[in-house]
Amino acid sequence: MTKKNLIVGNWKMNGGLQGNQALVQALLQAVGQPACDVAVCAPAPYLAQLQALLAASPIALGAQDVSAHAQGAFTGEQSAAMLKEFGVRYAIVGHSERRQYHRETDETVAAKTAAALSQGITPIVCVGETLAEREAGQTHDVVKRQLAAVIHVNGHCISEIVVAYEPVWAIGTGKTASPEQAQSVHALLRAQLHHAASEHAAGIRLLYGGSMNAANAAELLAQPDIDGGLIGGASLKAPDFLQIISAAA
Ligand code: 13P
Repeated sequence: MTKKNLIVGNWKMNGGLQGNQALVQALLQAVGQPACDVAVCAPAPYLAQLQALLAASPIALGAQDVSAHAQGAFTGEQSAAMLKEFGVRYAIVGHSERRQYHRETDETVAAKTAAALSQGITPIVCVGETLAEREAGQTHDVVKRQLAAVIHVNGHCISEIVVAYEPVWAIGTGKTASPEQAQSVHALLRAQLHHAASEHAAGIRLLYGGSMNAANAAELLAQPDIDGGLIGGASLKAPDFLQIISAAA
């Protein structure tokens, strides 16, 4: 099976109508026909704008979160069906910022993964340890627990997910995991997926995220179990994001 790398920009809570348009235009002018898959995950109010800007382009649209619920009294949330109406192909679930600031549990993340899958949206399931957990030697236990919750609920369609390993201490800090550190966790996640879905595990894309940039992307992407990146800060600058896309070709 040939597996293309996947490069995803997570804009987080950044952007505006004018800036989004300028950024997307700069990307589309230069991206050509990328040899990897590319997506950008925009804030919810801009999904309609991005759907129009990215129509018939090689860049797919993603959301940064999705409700675990199908509909009803959940003020402030967006259902997977709503995202689908705006052409959303990917949804980040369980980003550490949501686990940390919105107290999302492993169970919530598993339910959100199921909600996305139910609408044919590819969930990008984020896992990763804090600095304290790494220093306490708990990295493997933490990411295994986080992924196990998702497998427990979604085992039957686990081959449809994307996993992103994002060490919390590397997010927005400029401290990237070394390629060896990242590969070691990716290999562990791959083995866990293999256990859950042996024939599909090799085809599941495992992204690295955490201060990935134009300078370090190639080295990270050269690791055998790193199949792409989830990029925050560097995805807001067209030249940097384009360089990462080139590195993933
Ligand atoms: P940075 O690339 O800004 O470190 O963010 C990584 C991230 O959290 C992507 O989801």
